[in-house]
Amino acid sequence: MMRSLPIILCAGLCSGAFAQESPNLGVPADPEEVAAWDIDIGPDGAGLPPGAGTALEGEAVYAIQCLTCHGPEGNGQLNDVLVGGHGSLTNPAPVKTIGSFWPYATTIFDYIRRSMPYLTPRTLSDDEIYALTAYLLYLNGIIAEDEAMDAQTLPAVVMPNRDNFILAYP
Ligand code: HEC
Repeated sequence: MMRSLPIILCAGLCSGAFAQESPNLGVPADPEEVAAWDIDIGPDGAGLPPGAGTALEGEAVYAIQCLTCHGPEGNGQLNDVLVGGHGSLTNPAPVKTIGSFWPYATTIFDYIRRSMPYLTPRTLSDDEIYALTAYLLYLNGIIAEDEAMDAQTLPAVVMPNRDNFILAYP
């Protein structure tokens, strides 16, 4: 009896019957489907799509898509503050915003593209997202109002807090 157990298991697993009689949990994803989900952007801009936008253009999109939740000029009335907090990070009560705290500008694009507007994410065009990113960078005093953000210029933006992160567990 003790000897027959491994043999019985192998009959099921090793014959290939196991794979064919799987519980049919879905189908293999084709490359197009994988690409639609594979939208992360690296700190160096790897993965940024074509397109461009300026703060001026972003202001108009912001007024329609973001203002009700993030307030005029990102002052955070209802939800997260998106502007300010500069110079506050060493205070006992630091104000961490995407401008004062986040180390890479490309993360702003990535975050907006995958999750905003909060109730209807993935509905904005890449141009609109570049423009919104530019607008938020402009409001934070990091770029000029007429500076276009695209796959080349956005990764080149140096965020104020970039060099202040330390490895907690070296
Ligand atoms: C319906 C309300 C709502 C709308 C509309 C909305 N947001 Fe948000 N936003 C939120 C909430 C809530 C959070 C916090 C989410 C969390 O922490 O999980 C957030 C977080 C963010 C953050 C991250 C802030 C941080 O410091 O972590 C950014 C950037 C942002 N929103 C940008 C936008 C932009 C740009 C738009 C317009 C396209 C927008 N949001 C529209 C509710 C909204």
